[in-house]
Amino acid sequence: MSNKLILGTVQFGLAYGVNNSAGQVTTEQSSAILEHAYNNGVTSLDTASSYGDSELVIGNYIDKNPGKNFNIITKFSNRIDCGLSLETSLQRLRSHKISSILFHSFLHYAENKHELDYFIRKYKDVNVETIGVSVYTNEELAQLGQDDRINVVQLPFNILDNHALRSEAVLELKSRGKTIHTRSAFLQGLFFMDAEKIPEKLSPLKEPINLVKQVCNEHRLNIGHLALQYVLQKSYIDGVLIGVDSVTQLKQNIEWSEVTIPQEVFRIIDTILIEDLNLLNPSTW
Ligand SMILES: NC(=O)c1ccc[n+]([C@@H]2O[C@H](COP(=O)([O-])OP(=O)(O)OC[C@H]3O[C@@H](n4cnc5c(N)ncnc54)[C@H](OP(=O)(O)O)[C@@H]3O)[C@@H](O)[C@H]2O)c1
Repeated sequence: MSNKLILGTVQFGLAYGVNNSAGQVTTEQSSAILEHAYNNGVTSLDTASSYGDSELVIGNYIDKNPGKNFNIITKFSNRIDCGLSLETSLQRLRSHKISSILFHSFLHYAENKHELDYFIRKYKDVNVETIGVSVYTNEELAQLGQDDRINVVQLPFNILDNHALRSEAVLELKSRGKTIHTRSAFLQGLFFMDAEKIPEKLSPLKEPINLVKQVCNEHRLNIGHLALQYVLQKSYIDGVLIGVDSVTQLKQNIEWSEVTIPQEVFRIIDTILIEDLNLLNPSTW
């Protein structure tokens, strides 16, 4: 198992994903996913105050399984101040200390960064180890390099939203000591969808996804395996979030995380370029 995997948990609190027909993951399924994750070395979780009951589901699991010490990343609520948001999340997570808290968007960071000095004096190292920002665009990435108070940056990164488009901006942040976490490895599940089911507004992605599938066929690879290893094998990425709806998907993803893919396959994938970047940004779908 790659020790870079981070289990995303929006699926525990909301019906999430472009290819999701089953709705929100039940509490029982969420507990089974957490159990399997921890027992198989996936000990980091990504959640947020705005992911419905996700923090509560994790907190209930931790309460019933006191030995399971997950590293937890959560995100500030945009409705209350940073300190109150952390305290509320800690209560819901039944934890005294978590590994990281992120601003849920660059805008939220920009509007609230004046609170950070006070927040750090009061909570850093006591209740939270690191502070970060979740972003979407390269322009946002570029602006975070200057702020030494920001330790972690989370961004979308996948076979289409790729090395050619993102690596320069990410390497710049790495050179400034930031930890890099990525999400959207499967573009919310879009890479697993049959072409005819892809929503009309995303239809320009059908051809590039088809090209990726051709490469997979030629190299006898599953697209999920390719998509996951594409991100895991980037040395400048420290953590890779994956969302799952079931233990079966988690088991599959852990298996894929154990088998690397030759770089020459990725070089072919890197020739597929998407011009309209909004297509790769689920927040605009
Ligand atoms: N701004 C932010 O901070 C932000 C935004 C979005 C998400 N996140 C975080 O990122 C996490 C992951 O979300 P994401 O958007 O990046 O999702 P993702 O990992 O790109 O895709 C997850 C979806 O892919 C499908 N899937 C996963 N493994 C599979 C397998 N082995 N076989 C078939 N289908 C599989 C499942 O969807 P179906 O089965 O439904 O198709 C699953 O829900 C979230 O849980 C959340 O913690 C953060």
